[in-house]
Amino acid sequence: MDSSGFSLLRQPRVFFGPGKLHDLPDLIHEFGSNVLLVTGAGTLRRSGSLSRFADRMKAEFLHYQHYTVEGEPSADLVDRAVTEYGGAGIQIVVAVGGGSALDAGKAISAMLLKKEPVERYIEGQPEFKAHDGLKVPFIAVPTTSGTGSETTNNAVISKVGKDGYKRSLRHHAFIPEIALIDPELMLSMPAGLTAASGMDAFTQLLEALVSPYASHYTDAIALSGIEHFSRSFIPVCKTGTKELEARSGMAYAAFMSGIALANAGLGIVHGFASSVGGYVDIPHGVLCATLLYPATRENISLLRENGDCAKPFLAKYAAAGRLMCADSSLDDYEASTALLEKLDALQKELKFPRLGDFGIVENDIDVIVSRTRSKSNPVELNGQSMRSILQERL
Ligand SMILES: [Fe+2]
Repeated sequence: MDSSGFSLLRQPRVFFGPGKLHDLPDLIHEFGSNVLLVTGAGTLRRSGSLSRFADRMKAEFLHYQHYTVEGEPSADLVDRAVTEYGGAGIQIVVAVGGGSALDAGKAISAMLLKKEPVERYIEGQPEFKAHDGLKVPFIAVPTTSGTGSETTNNAVISKVGKDGYKRSLRHHAFIPEIALIDPELMLSMPAGLTAASGMDAFTQLLEALVSPYASHYTDAIALSGIEHFSRSFIPVCKTGTKELEARSGMAYAAFMSGIALANAGLGIVHGFASSVGGYVDIPHGVLCATLLYPATRENISLLRENGDCAKPFLAKYAAAGRLMCADSSLDDYEASTALLEKLDALQKELKFPRLGDFGIVENDIDVIVSRTRSKSNPVELNGQSMRSILQERL
């Protein structure tokens, strides 16, 4: 144990396992009976459970209003919900859906009592005003396994375009009161979403593992998540969907990624997620999937030139490589090389979309690089390094 110390955020109360959705009405009752339900546009309809869910809520004497979210949440979307429901005496916000629905619900629960525009409270905005944490209680029910939003302290809000941004509304009080993680809800995820959200979770696990702000605690969490990812990701991508054990493994990996990232921070891929995601409309998981291999290769290559001070970071990449290849006999150099080969193989096998598929061209690269921060990357990247990562995936 080194002497630098660490701090940890609190966790939600967690209910994890197939069938746990059944417990949701009882959990809601702990906070009241006047509910704002936030879902993705197709989340519950797709799984056929919206009408069953509505019947249960009525039978349990819960009054709920339903707000649907299309795409990743914008400030306008949050403000509209606050205008509509700010005077409705909402006692509990429940979000059921992917990362976008969860982040929307988290932001709405944070702003319902404020009754003012959310934009001033977003990090990095002009005239930024710190939020005091006063909010309506919030329950997160993920239906994808990716962002880990069910356990994090931030909601990502975006505005896409030339003057766009993708930044966080953040306070430790925004960690959900309850995370209800039911892998049965993930059985109906389409293949593309399964691959992209899974790669988001893995990116978060790997970036938190090699963050300069990692602790022994976050290392243990991240490695546990990577171990489950390594066993579950290809099965959920290949079998399409019906294998509950693999879905549970991915739900666990995503949950671990949320704890790890909230406490250790994230690296350059999430730096690009902020800059590219504010510039063009590209799903967050797709961006992570397409950039993780070249970004990790650049990091490892630079770290190998950096001598002894880089060895702890290379040892962590190696630990991830041994788990991904299920081969504990590899030395650090072999294992970090094997990790890169695995990422390259995943990219080829699953054919992740390229940046060019979303309209990004060579001329956009300098603007994107100028807006990108290395965040908690294990090594400082200069403009040329960032440019080469993006150019490879145009
Ligand atoms: Fe992410």
